[in-house]
Amino acid sequence: MPARQALPRLIRDAHRTLVDIANWSGGDVVRVGLGVSSPYLVFRPEDVQQVLQEKAAIYPRGDDTALWRSVRRLVGDGILAEGDSWEASRRTLGPLFRTTRVSTLVDTMAHAIATSVDGLEVLAARGTPIDIGAELSRIVSSAIMRVFFADRISIDTALRIMAAQEVIVTSMAPRLLAPAVPWWIPMPGDRRFHKAVRTIDDILLPVLRAAIERPGDGDDVLSTLARARTPEGHRLSEQQMRDDLVSMVAVTTETSYVVLTWLWPALANAPRVAERLYAEIDHVIGAGPVRAEHFPDLTYTRMVLDELLRLYPAGWILPRRAATEDVLGGVKIAAGTNVILSPYATHRMSALWGPTAETFDPERFAPGHEPRHRYAHYPFGGGKHRCLGEHLFMLEAVLIVATFLSRFRFHLTDTAIPGTRVAASLRPSRPVEMTLTRRTKHPVLR
Ligand code: HEM
Repeated sequence: MPARQALPRLIRDAHRTLVDIANWSGGDVVRVGLGVSSPYLVFRPEDVQQVLQEKAAIYPRGDDTALWRSVRRLVGDGILAEGDSWEASRRTLGPLFRTTRVSTLVDTMAHAIATSVDGLEVLAARGTPIDIGAELSRIVSSAIMRVFFADRISIDTALRIMAAQEVIVTSMAPRLLAPAVPWWIPMPGDRRFHKAVRTIDDILLPVLRAAIERPGDGDDVLSTLARARTPEGHRLSEQQMRDDLVSMVAVTTETSYVVLTWLWPALANAPRVAERLYAEIDHVIGAGPVRAEHFPDLTYTRMVLDELLRLYPAGWILPRRAATEDVLGGVKIAAGTNVILSPYATHRMSALWGPTAETFDPERFAPGHEPRHRYAHYPFGGGKHRCLGEHLFMLEAVLIVATFLSRFRFHLTDTAIPGTRVAASLRPSRPVEMTLTRRTKHPVLR
């Protein structure tokens, strides 16, 4: 695709164009001219590995790409940044999300999820259409807020945070589409962005200050931050705690519910997959409730989620900046240039996934399947910035899907797969609406 065609197409349909460029270039590193900025696009797993892992030190998250600048304006320094403050945050927060610790949360989260899914019973009985994205955001926050805040904030407050966050993620779109526009030029969305950041601060700062006064001995994220000490024995600054807390809340709920929103159109268009998923959940869970001991048997459910993360990776671009000159996939990269990785495009490349790359097929993740490159499927990134929430997400997602499908069957108002919308995460272009019917528990055989 000639470079001069790339820009208008990227603005019209950024996601599709990234995949087309990846397929058209055969995965080669290509440079696209986006006005003032001309980043390199990186698709091939070997090149992704070089940027995220082997040479991570020379490819930091620069703060002059539109995504990181927006992120920095929201969360300042800390876990989503680079350098010393990132390292300190990662050291404090990392242990909270290890598999062994996260596994102890299953029953607490299962209970929170079951209680929120109860809220859908009335709507199912009445046949009222629901916006599943909005419902999932409610269900995810009820599960996650306990892990983050113990009982220091209410579900209503959590929902107000989510609403503000919704504004933040979508109001970033104009800046993502016009990365060359400097910050001092006002753009649509800026005012809503700043107002939403203030709303989040107004809610979280009093909760944070109360936790600093009385850290307690809880192992929730907030109490852990409030007790944390630097290697020199100092408390983290209030600013750093605030930045980490806002970062964590921002990346956790948003990513989780957005990914899960794609599941329903994907299933509606793959009836055989849906049948197999229902059969596994019926067999393993029955009428519920879901418990920790069910996990090892929900193998197909996990394959479905891996495939969902392949086609709909919430983090659809990962921007970096070459701090020094390098050669990447045979192409010379000058110091100071931006380099953009796209899990979305790599995950849909036909050279890696075959002619059915865009088809939803969980069999790709069946145990014993042919091994593939570590970075052919990297929805959680990799290297030193690898997602901290991978285990937490897989746990909460299995719980949500199993709880939901042990109770209901769903019928989409519009069965077409929605288009994508440019935002910080990979969002559907329209709400996904459905009605629910109660699952028939024990069909009578005659
Ligand atoms: C489906 C859900 C999720 C997806 C697809 C996802 C994806 C990602 C990706 C791609 C990165 C790497 C960013 C980069 O390299 O610049 C990342 C980083 C991160 N994720 Fe997630 N994430 C998800 C859920 C979560 C959850 C539930 C948490 C909560 C603990 C979380 C916490 C983080 C943090 C703290 C980082 C930054 C790590 C660092 O820079 O050291 N994520 N995530």
